Amino acid sequence: MSRLSADDAPLVPRTGALYYKGRMRTFVVVSHTVPLDGDFSLSDLPGGAGRIDILCRCAVETFLVSHGIRKDAVLHLVIRDRLVITLRGDRLRHLNPDERSTAALLRRALTRGAELATDDEIASTQGISVRRAGLAGLLQEINRAGARPMLLDEDGVLLARSPMPEHPAFVLSDHREFEPEERALLASLPRVSVGPRWLHGHQCITLVHAELDQREAGWKNGYG
Ligand SMILES: C[S@@+](CC[C@H](N)C(=O)[O-])C[C@H]1O[C@@H](n2cnc3c(N)ncnc32)[C@H](O)[C@@H]1O
Repeated sequence: MSRLSADDAPLVPRTGALYYKGRMRTFVVVSHTVPLDGDFSLSDLPGGAGRIDILCRCAVETFLVSHGIRKDAVLHLVIRDRLVITLRGDRLRHLNPDERSTAALLRRALTRGAELATDDEIASTQGISVRRAGLAGLLQEINRAGARPMLLDEDGVLLARSPMPEHPAFVLSDHREFEPEERALLASLPRVSVGPRWLHGHQCITLVHAELDQREAGWKNGYG
């Protein structure tokens, strides 16, 4: 059986449009239905918890690798345009693959957020913080921090062919479409697609990581 060798596969150029040596990867998930007060049962994540199960899967895919955590990843969860919960991989502890324990961490952040009297960001558990902000404010913060927001969209430029900034920030929605005001805020962003099928958000995050991992390692088409 003939098998392609590494020599047959084109490598991602070390310089040029597809070069990527990342500093940080950020994901922004816009949630429209999670209860702001965190008042829900951990036994009803898709129902009373307003599809928080989606956010839990996004958190797991953003950070967890086999036996480890991605320290160069950040996840912002925008809750009903009122609260932003931020998880930082370099500080996170206690994130496990199961949705229930992740939902407990997010519920704790929501209840701390409901108590907030100021616009300060406060820690809820290690590596997780919460503040009063919406999508517009978060996008401004991301730009100020030197990251470049990009919209994940099936009709965008194929991710594998997209030039990548040093610090991309990928924006995606939960199970709902973006609201018209959100669409207006996102209208000018570059749009990238992970493929021709409409996928779940957490699947998109996994595919983004896989593409950026390959670029960082200098792989192309699965060959080193
Ligand atoms: C489950 S989808 C949203 C479904 C929602 N009912 C809608 O129609 O917008 C969640 C997010 O995944 C992202 N997404 C889904 N498929 C994608 C694709 N093929 N390429 C890039 N992003 C995708 C989009 O950002 C979308 O907002």
